[in-house]
Amino acid sequence: GLGQGAARKSLLVKIVMAGESCVGKTSIVRRYTEPGSPAFSSSYLATIGIDFKVKPVTFNDTRVKLQIWDTAGQERFHTLSTSYFRGAQGFVLVYDITNLDSFQGIASWMKDIYEKAGDEVDIILLGNKCDKETERVVPKHKGEKLAWEHGIPFFETSAKDNVNIEDAFSTLTKEILEKK
Ligand code: GTP
Ligand code: MG
Repeated sequence: GLGQGAARKSLLVKIVMAGESCVGKTSIVRRYTEPGSPAFSSSYLATIGIDFKVKPVTFNDTRVKLQIWDTAGQERFHTLSTSYFRGAQGFVLVYDITNLDSFQGIASWMKDIYEKAGDEVDIILLGNKCDKETERVVPKHKGEKLAWEHGIPFFETSAKDNVNIEDAFSTLTKEILEKK
């Protein structure tokens, strides 16, 4: 057979970040794709339009290039952001555990995703900013219940403290690859 380093399959996987403004989508992408300092900034710089990063990963013996599209959550960009949903294989849907509106908006994002990308798509739900326990307004069990109802994985994450970021992306990538 082919030895180590010989040509192997390399797949391109399109993942899209979705969720309200300020929940931490850009911070999560930065934490995941730009290891090393400073991987986190506490100042808010809204995403304008769209941005993408590429992260090469290897699962078992399969080389995968994750193309991660970071959309803008601000309402004025909604049409533009959702136009990038088409053709995506995976979604990282994010709310902020300290912002109830961002959690209540999840159902509407789900609808946008299924409408644009079809119902075969893989989604993971993230309750971000879990480092801000004293400001929490969304209990963990509510996130778990919502994810369970939709049959999707759930993680509470912190882009700031690097909690569950790697696990979230690898869980999503594995689910996508299992379908290939
Ligand atoms: P849009 O681009 O407008 O859609 O926002 P976004 O979802 O990309 O949010 P962004 O990553 O820009 O983060 C918004 C603010 O939340 C920034 O001030 C970040 O520093 C902060 N933030 C993001 N993630 C975390 C986290 O895990 N913990 C804490 N404490 N703050 C966070
Ligand atoms: Mg952003």
